[in-house]
Amino acid sequence: MDHKDLQPRDSFTSKFGMIAATAGSAIGLGNIWRFPYIAGENGGGAFLVVYLLFVLGIGIPVMMSEFVIGRRTQRNPYGAFKKLAPGKPWFLIGFMGVGAAFMILIFYNTVAGWTLEYIYQSVTNAFEGKTSEELTTMFDGFREGSIRPLLWMVVFMALTAWIVLAGVQKGIEKYTKILMPILLALIIILDIRALTLPGGSEGLSFLFKPDFSKINGKTVLEALGQAFFSLSIGMGTLITYGSYIRRKENLANTALSVSLADTFVAILAGVAIFPAVFAFGIDPASEEGLVFIVLPKIFQQMPGGYIFSFMFFILLAVAALTSTISILEVVVAYFVEELKMVRKKATILAAVSISAVGIFAAASWGWASDLTLFGSNIFQLTNFATVNILLPVGGFFIVIFIGWFLKARITGDELSNSGSIKVRYLPTFMFIVKFIAPIAIALVFLYKLGIFGN
Ligand code: PHE
Repeated sequence: MDHKDLQPRDSFTSKFGMIAATAGSAIGLGNIWRFPYIAGENGGGAFLVVYLLFVLGIGIPVMMSEFVIGRRTQRNPYGAFKKLAPGKPWFLIGFMGVGAAFMILIFYNTVAGWTLEYIYQSVTNAFEGKTSEELTTMFDGFREGSIRPLLWMVVFMALTAWIVLAGVQKGIEKYTKILMPILLALIIILDIRALTLPGGSEGLSFLFKPDFSKINGKTVLEALGQAFFSLSIGMGTLITYGSYIRRKENLANTALSVSLADTFVAILAGVAIFPAVFAFGIDPASEEGLVFIVLPKIFQQMPGGYIFSFMFFILLAVAALTSTISILEVVVAYFVEELKMVRKKATILAAVSISAVGIFAAASWGWASDLTLFGSNIFQLTNFATVNILLPVGGFFIVIFIGWFLKARITGDELSNSGSIKVRYLPTFMFIVKFIAPIAIALVFLYKLGIFGN
């Protein structure tokens, strides 16, 4: 028996709880809504290969770095940098993270609101008998409306705020432990249905047969941003969560398990979506609407599709909720610890101000559709700017901080739990955070800007 088995049972339970909370943050709309349409727009297989390389070579090291910073300082991202680098401007990274959290919620809540609309539509059996075109019209019609998308967005923000406020994360953890495996099971059932659709195999080739001629500056930047977004890294969410991780937990293992789980779910989502896209002749470049058009189409082809679709959208909303909680927590923790607000006031202030701007994102296809910049509406602008710019820039500075500023002794101490676990990978890790990850992030930006190649 190894000594792990001798630990009291509750430590295993809370270890699982910790992984569940972190995975709950990582797994969300990023995997199921965003990954398929971004992969679809950026060449499928080739995108997937670049994405996987970024998760392994940059994502996991950044996640470990955030855990180190959070657990060492026991603070919110802003306070954490202040503590580790007093009198230096590193706290600006924490500050940027708070801003990124604010901006992500602006568009994320809009999509989370769409999942609520789709729960409602499932209940009223609105997908039945509709063709792909009709489902597209239905989605567009809803999104262009002036009230419903806004209303659902506000409802979702209120739900998130309520949970953050009540501090019932523990309760949420308890439910997500049951609900997330059910979501996983449903996705696997969807995969099986999608894979057995006539003409579906073309979709699989699209996702798994890379055509490297499709790679350009934009695809590479999108893959990097999507990796950061999906893993919840680059803005301090996992610094905050790292501060809740107990001393005896293995940070590297946690980062590895969470990243693998997150990537697995994204791929499973892709395996459900793309065969169906090809089987039903849906345009893979249907942008933000892709999964909201494809999934109802798959449900139509399943016995008991009515129940499945209802369950699926509820679980998707829950998956989104465990992510929005972790994002709002960054803003609230900053307000409470740095601006000395009481938790209630901080939460309400954050929720109200995010919703006030979020209204414009939710109305991006309705009355706010004229508010555009470079041809993108407010939703698309906040989506692109946070995911592809703020998060990778945040990640860049986080690895620079760990690689070049923080004493290697501290990093080694955190990763090895003061020497109690072996960290043979440490020199490799340090090499990655010093050189590989920051250089790779910088090159992606240069490539996108057309400074070399393209
Ligand atoms: N990773 C979450 C998702 O995939 C979104 C998220 C981004 C959460 C950044 C926290 C921080 O849905």
